[in-house]
Amino acid sequence: MYFAHGQVLSLASARRLLIPSSCPCIIAPRMSEPKKPQVLPTGPERELQIYALGLGGGKPSVPVPLDLLEQKAKETLSPCAYDYVAGGAGGEDTMRANREAFYRWRIVPRMLRDVAKRDLSVELFGARLPVPILLGPIGVQEIVHDQADVASARAAASLGLPFVLSTMSSRTIEEVAQAAAKVAESPRWFQLYWGKNPDVTASMLQRAERAGYSALVVTLDTHSLGWRERDLHHGYLPFMQGQGLTNYFSDPVFRGLLPQPPEQNPMAAIQLWGSLFSNPALTWKDIGFLRQHTRVPIILKGILHAHDAARAVDAGVDSLIVSNHGGRQVDGTIGALDALPGVVREVHGRVPVLFDSGIRRGADIFKALALGARAVLLGRLYMWGLAVAGEEGVRDVLLNLVADLDLTMALSGYTCCRELDASVLCGNSYGEPAR
Ligand code: FNR
Repeated sequence: MYFAHGQVLSLASARRLLIPSSCPCIIAPRMSEPKKPQVLPTGPERELQIYALGLGGGKPSVPVPLDLLEQKAKETLSPCAYDYVAGGAGGEDTMRANREAFYRWRIVPRMLRDVAKRDLSVELFGARLPVPILLGPIGVQEIVHDQADVASARAAASLGLPFVLSTMSSRTIEEVAQAAAKVAESPRWFQLYWGKNPDVTASMLQRAERAGYSALVVTLDTHSLGWRERDLHHGYLPFMQGQGLTNYFSDPVFRGLLPQPPEQNPMAAIQLWGSLFSNPALTWKDIGFLRQHTRVPIILKGILHAHDAARAVDAGVDSLIVSNHGGRQVDGTIGALDALPGVVREVHGRVPVLFDSGIRRGADIFKALALGARAVLLGRLYMWGLAVAGEEGVRDVLLNLVADLDLTMALSGYTCCRELDASVLCGNSYGEPAR
């Protein structure tokens, strides 16, 4: 069990924690036992690793302050790639709303409650996650780092966190599964962009299931790309250059629709992708198609309205993700966290509700859990780690986030996620109690 001891460690222990690490603050999984994820350090352990490194004149190579992390990522990336990841729809008002929604909820810490032993694990679809954190689907990761999804999936697996592979990944469904499984046994899910051709969709679902992806995330909010001013300014869409299309180009059904293979005629393949990528004509009646073509739990991503949550549960899906796609789709949208309580109320415990859009720190996760989320997904946050240091960078970002969450829990007086509900928050600058 994780977080079994949260007490301050001796310097000798700090040195022990540091010894196996080739990179600052990372404990690498040992080659002889590759199947078990690393036990996550507690917040105090992680702090001590970093401070002990400082004692020796070292400093984390992946910046801990998030503004410095993003700045370093920006220096690494091309302007087009940076803007593609960092940007959102229109004036990016939704991105601001996502962050502002977190500021309006404040934590009210409790004292003297014996928080020495903590267990942040949560149950999801019969599996126990060490912490309520997943790596959300992010397409076209090759523009961020050449190891792309393989690096992110390996980092996630090494810590036992689920990785959600995008339809628009830069490495195939099969390659990512194999690469992650070599590191450790850890859940991986597949995210579907539900296109116009049912045979291609069915083929991808089959491939994902065969490769051991244990849940299907269906993203509903992107049947067209949002009006993204930064990308339009650069005239930049990586897919038009054939990036992020590897799951299509490797798909036997997709390939069968082409007069020549994508290797011989990439333009024709890109055009075909463009013609069937999305399907704005889908309705709730179509959900049955997914059920017919997969046996794994189905999770709908992009739910913001309570009525849609109700329809989703009625349609028999297994979970929802409250998300506005990190503000990349509709400018002027409700902050995702503001949508969470209404959805949770409507769902009434019938299925687990997950959350993304704007998660940056431990306190954000604490607030999302308190408002009813079972777990959260990360987006841009781990992309900055990937940009700065590939797999190690993603792992560092995750370890820091887990440490921050653990400390937020302990210092607020809580030892497990189940204890959190709206009563642990206070509802805005007026000090109203949370409803
Ligand atoms: C995304 N997101 C996303 N979602 C999805 O379902 N499939 C995808 O392929 C992608 N691709 C993608 C690329 C990039 C560069 C970004 C930034 C985001 C959305 C993602 O899963 C998640 O909803 C948001 O990133 C969450 O917001 P924050 O935490 O990044 O603000």
